[in-house]
Amino acid sequence: MKVENPWRQNPWFESVAVAQRRARKRLPQPVYAALVAGSERGQTVSDNQAAFMELGVLPHVAGHHAERSMSRTVLGQEVSLPVLISPTGVQAVHPDGEVAVARAAAARGTLMGLSNFASKSVEEVVEACPRTLFQMYWTGDRDVMVQRMERAHQAGAIGLIATLDWSFSMGRDWGSPEIPEKVDLKTMVRMAPKVATRPRWLYQFGRTGQIPDLTAPNLAAPGADKGPTFFGAYYEWMTTPPPSWEDVAWMREQWSQLSGTPFVLKGVGRVDDAQKAVDAGVSAISVSNHGGNNLDGTPAAIRLLHPIATAVGDQVEVLMDGGVRRGSDVVKALALGARAVLIGRAYLWGLAANGQAGVENVLDVLHGGIDSALLGLGVSSVDELTPEHLLIPDGFHRS
Ligand SMILES: Cc1cc2nc3c(=O)[nH]c(=O)nc-3n(C[C@H](O)[C@H](O)[C@H](O)COP(=O)(O)O)c2cc1C
Repeated sequence: MKVENPWRQNPWFESVAVAQRRARKRLPQPVYAALVAGSERGQTVSDNQAAFMELGVLPHVAGHHAERSMSRTVLGQEVSLPVLISPTGVQAVHPDGEVAVARAAAARGTLMGLSNFASKSVEEVVEACPRTLFQMYWTGDRDVMVQRMERAHQAGAIGLIATLDWSFSMGRDWGSPEIPEKVDLKTMVRMAPKVATRPRWLYQFGRTGQIPDLTAPNLAAPGADKGPTFFGAYYEWMTTPPPSWEDVAWMREQWSQLSGTPFVLKGVGRVDDAQKAVDAGVSAISVSNHGGNNLDGTPAAIRLLHPIATAVGDQVEVLMDGGVRRGSDVVKALALGARAVLIGRAYLWGLAANGQAGVENVLDVLHGGIDSALLGLGVSSVDELTPEHLLIPDGFHRS
């Protein structure tokens, strides 16, 4: 008789916090620190999660619904839960990187957001998840941007996310991790002590015969076999003059003529900007502060959501991202006017902990949490959620 080891760690995790603890154990310290990120004093990154804790719920004891629905149409696509994958550059977290994330998104019936700084090509990612939105920063000249949009469209992207909330703010009170320019033998020897203590991570990359190469394949010039290094890409971005509202309208127009699919402006935090985004013709906005990685002191995205949704929610789809770690967070955001949320670190922890299955696990944790909240609140669908379902302390919203 085969005896199971009762102390073996179950690869399934019950919460995003458990996934994060496993990611911390598994990843080399600089890779883990790059995902924690945050800027300056860390005020915004902390508030993104703390603000969710200020919102309360008051469950019923009877009159619940046996059947509950959380599917929704977002950006013209039916999704099985109102949680989308936010674009992140997941260099070096897992050898399958964004392809593993995309497979998980497809398996769980939701949309994948792919960063232009990602480690896998848009072609590979669309193959893994046909419902992929390609994300771009305002970087390079207009010809280069059009060429990148054309490539994403030809690959089959079903929408474009323009992320414009980035101020190149440098300096963290807790110190930034080292990111090497490229991973050559010299770098490997120098960083070996940080990596040698993470045998499982090493084994995963070793098995594939690849080392993380820290390039951005989706920013490759036409005909080039490799994209620029992460730093090359960052330099191009830093030296690109920042966009005006006319530039935003231009980008939206280019994408619309090329593909006729949705255009999302990500990073909106102000009601006046949300109104200008409507004027620029966008299909959707994401109320976001880049996961606390932009200007520190920006309030939590969830505090900014309701005033913005009230102002423009009848004209564009309003999404939000920042600090979502459990199903009840999703329900709170929907009650305050979001059509859906996007997640960043939550799935990165899942990816680090257990690859594609770990990302599926995160989406399942959120699915279970949304369902419990709907049950407790006595609603049969996410469409019924309103601010009345929450206990909102005075002064919670910011605008
Ligand atoms: C490590 C990391 C990399 C990111 N890279 C990008 C990116 O390339 N493009 C982008 O639009 N947003 C990027 N973001 C922001 C996320 O899309 C999202 O706005 C944020 O992670 C949401 O907050 P959360 O992590 O608390 O869920 C990144 C975030 C993190 C943590």
